Amino acid sequence: MSTASTRAVPGRRPMVAGNWKMNGAIATNEQLIGAMLPALESISGVDLVVCPPYPYLGQLRGALAGATGAPGPVAFGAQNVAAQAPGAFTGEVAAEMLVDLGCRWVIIGHSERRAFFAEDDATVLAKTKRALEVGLNVIVCVGESLQEREAGRAETVVGTQLAAVLPAFAQIAHERCVVAYEPVWAIGTGKTATPETAQQMHAFIRAELARHDEDMARDTRILYGGSVKGANAASLFSQADIDGGLIGGAALQPDEFITICRAAA
Ligand code: PGA
Repeated sequence: MSTASTRAVPGRRPMVAGNWKMNGAIATNEQLIGAMLPALESISGVDLVVCPPYPYLGQLRGALAGATGAPGPVAFGAQNVAAQAPGAFTGEVAAEMLVDLGCRWVIIGHSERRAFFAEDDATVLAKTKRALEVGLNVIVCVGESLQEREAGRAETVVGTQLAAVLPAFAQIAHERCVVAYEPVWAIGTGKTATPETAQQMHAFIRAELARHDEDMARDTRILYGGSVKGANAASLFSQADIDGGLIGGAALQPDEFITICRAAA
């Protein structure tokens, strides 16, 4: 394991991001945020982010703002962004618009985007560059399928996805670029990777980062995603190279999400 694999480095503040995926409605979002916010606001030392579908970003901006209307302690972000600058791209949402709405974060290259919307590594790189260029922080997802893992190709697949996006990370403050390791076989399936399996891949990712830049490896946060729940969050987050989580299903359950966020503190 690389010497970069040490916890409690000031640059690696724990982080938990909730990915609501294509779920929500104005009324239920209001209930969900209302049920979570007081508890989330009382957690310190963790970067907390909520990522609703695009149409609800404005709603979250209002709901998460502090009393003065300034951004509150819980940030919000988008689940996707266009690779293009504003212009004639019907149906797309530009990074500038996300900034305009007050987003601090954007998830890029989620496996559902890769699988269902044919996003390849070149697209993920282009989107990441655009987002960082306009001041958004990014959570770039990588992860292998079950078939790839069983064929012994997990590290090759993850290493390739990671290498493709690294040119965008160069020259950018390390706290703005987050990697999320999400094994596809663990997403929404209830089959969480064991803390040991997850740690092994996180250590691999950190070692790959170190091949490019030791400081980047030391400071870059690597989140785990895939069936994280209140019951397994603490054991995952206690691993040396797991700096928090990207949470899908459990982000829609207030008690679960609060427990997960507390486990990262
Ligand atoms: P899950 O999803 O927590 O429902 O497995 C994680 C994700 O897809 O980000």
